[in-house]
Amino acid sequence: MPKHSNPYIKKKTPLTRISISLPSDLLTKFDNSMVRAGYADRSKALQTAIHSLIDDYSWKSGDNTEGAGALIMMYNNHVYNQDKKSTRIQHKYSDVISASTHVHLKDDNCLETIIVKGDINKIRDLAKHLSENRGIKSLKVNFMSVV
Ligand code: NI
Repeated sequence: MPKHSNPYIKKKTPLTRISISLPSDLLTKFDNSMVRAGYADRSKALQTAIHSLIDDYSWKSGDNTEGAGALIMMYNNHVYNQDKKSTRIQHKYSDVISASTHVHLKDDNCLETIIVKGDINKIRDLAKHLSENRGIKSLKVNFMSVV
């Protein structure tokens, strides 16, 4: 009888135990933040912090990686035809855009969230392209590499 792998059973990643040295006051701050953030133990909190550092570095450096995330931007609809420009740019990057939402705010302001997935370089280009529009008030990127 052939064996089928069950896609719902998560493969266990082997764990490595490490020992690290930290300044005591840094560890106290870490523990306080960890408790406030709702983590039950240091290992899980540290894993999240490490992922965050890796993602941050991947985004800023020229790393070639795959990932997913969201670009969140705020702009004034009436400045430099921002709406049309944004749509035109997004069409060019449809291969990395999974979805987008547009929320109309007060005073002709709009909030757009673009959910992205795929090649980090393309997503980086998309963010750069969008941020070049003069009507953009704020553009934030939250990218997570698939590690
Ligand atoms: Ni709007």
